[in-house]
Amino acid sequence: MAQAKKALAKSSRKNTGSTARTSTKTYANYIGGKWVPSRSGEVFENLNPADTRDVIGRFPRSTSDDVNDAVNAAREAYDHWRHTPAPRRVEMLFRLGEILICNRDAYAADMTREMGKVLKETGGDVQEAIDCTYYTAGEGRRLHGFTTPAEMPDKFAMCVRQPVGLCGLISPWNFPMAIPSWKLIPALVCGNTVVIKPAEDTPLSTYNLVKACEEAGIPPGVVNLVTGYGDPGAAMTNHPLLRLISFTGSTATGRLVASACAERNAICSLEMGGKNVIMVMEDADIDLAVEGAVWGAFGTSGQRCTAASRVVVHKKVYKKFSQQLVERAKALRVGNGAHTKTDMGPVINNDAVEKIMGYIDIGQNEDGATLACGGKRLTRGDYAHGYFIEPTVFTDVTPDMRIAQEEIFGPVTSVIPTNSLAEAVEIANGVRYGLSAAIYTRDVNRAFHAMNEMYTGIFYVNASTIGAEVHLPFGGTKATGNGHREAGTQVLDIFSEWKSIYVDYSGKLQRAQIDTADI
Ligand code: UN1
Repeated sequence: MAQAKKALAKSSRKNTGSTARTSTKTYANYIGGKWVPSRSGEVFENLNPADTRDVIGRFPRSTSDDVNDAVNAAREAYDHWRHTPAPRRVEMLFRLGEILICNRDAYAADMTREMGKVLKETGGDVQEAIDCTYYTAGEGRRLHGFTTPAEMPDKFAMCVRQPVGLCGLISPWNFPMAIPSWKLIPALVCGNTVVIKPAEDTPLSTYNLVKACEEAGIPPGVVNLVTGYGDPGAAMTNHPLLRLISFTGSTATGRLVASACAERNAICSLEMGGKNVIMVMEDADIDLAVEGAVWGAFGTSGQRCTAASRVVVHKKVYKKFSQQLVERAKALRVGNGAHTKTDMGPVINNDAVEKIMGYIDIGQNEDGATLACGGKRLTRGDYAHGYFIEPTVFTDVTPDMRIAQEEIFGPVTSVIPTNSLAEAVEIANGVRYGLSAAIYTRDVNRAFHAMNEMYTGIFYVNASTIGAEVHLPFGGTKATGNGHREAGTQVLDIFSEWKSIYVDYSGKLQRAQIDTADI
């Protein structure tokens, strides 16, 4: 466990070398309905990845003491919250939805400033939180269980959902409002109370979400926010009172979360890496496929679990497709996501730059792929104080190369030639992850064949690997997760437990499996 704690505590940090302006706002944790500093008194700086001289705010550098306080607050609030009828609980969530709508643009601007992706995309991120809130709040008037016949006469059988209890939510920086909402909203609908810990790179967006919860009238202690590096995350994972940990983040950290949860028999839902693929068949609309590949590979600077980091292209159209893709990638305007002309923003922090540049080096020098465009970090002029990397395309990639196997999480995609649909599917499935896959073809038979054969949680036809909607389950197979699905109504299975209830109104002892009903 000590090892798990240590590794969770060691997470990527933004360069904190710049000097904070004295006017920089200091934010607080939200515990038991009060905004409080970390007990340690320490803070960390939230920096703009497009310009690290821009200090967005100081946030509490929380420790296990703060997590204990937050868990205690969640425990205190739990009974009242779970006894509040679900239709009443979600009235507050509908109010939350309204607040999110009113502040959509301001939240998007904050998010671009702390995370880097362009305003259109951060607007989409907030919109996804709004969609999730309205859609899932609607479940407050359903939360369906079921009835079923009992084996015995005068006996009634039914099944109801009950909350799991206190939940720890650990969320990533790439969708800093949407993904927290995927966890928070269903947890609350089901009657749980929560402690949420956002990634250290993007605390402001979760702060905005939690502040909106306060404004919506969600009672003190139901939602608690603790910011910081890995320490509070590790403390949550190991906290005996947190019955459930919901984690989205790296595969390496997810494994540690899983083993810590296994140790104390906590429920654990994991959403981790991807090595998603677009297959382009010889009959595809090539312009459309290129469009999809550009959006999938370079949207959010490639920092999506669902990013299209591989494109498997039929040899008959390989040259044409690759040329067009490279042209389009070269034409993308890289810059500060707050500027309307920017197509692609920075990556999140210096660790990310190093990792991505490391993979670009591997692609050229270890794998021997062709660097068709990009490949450089941008450091001059407006780029001097940010984490900018050129949109990068590798061609002549073979399926076994490291750049075609490992998650890069940056603006880098690999184009792999193939001879047939069957081979494309084999290549597409030949990675450890199973989140998202797509095919571009005009042939319905090919589309259905691929849909059936791809072992992924999400599949697209004539669309990119990204663009999941909140009313369908989100998640993946293999190393991407541990079998759970967020979003949709399926997420309710994470945040509630089934209780099977038998009501015997026969007035006598009826022994299941032993007595037989007289018929
Ligand atoms: C992610 O890829 O990290 O499907 C989340 C999408 C978004 C969510 C992506 N709705 O593109």
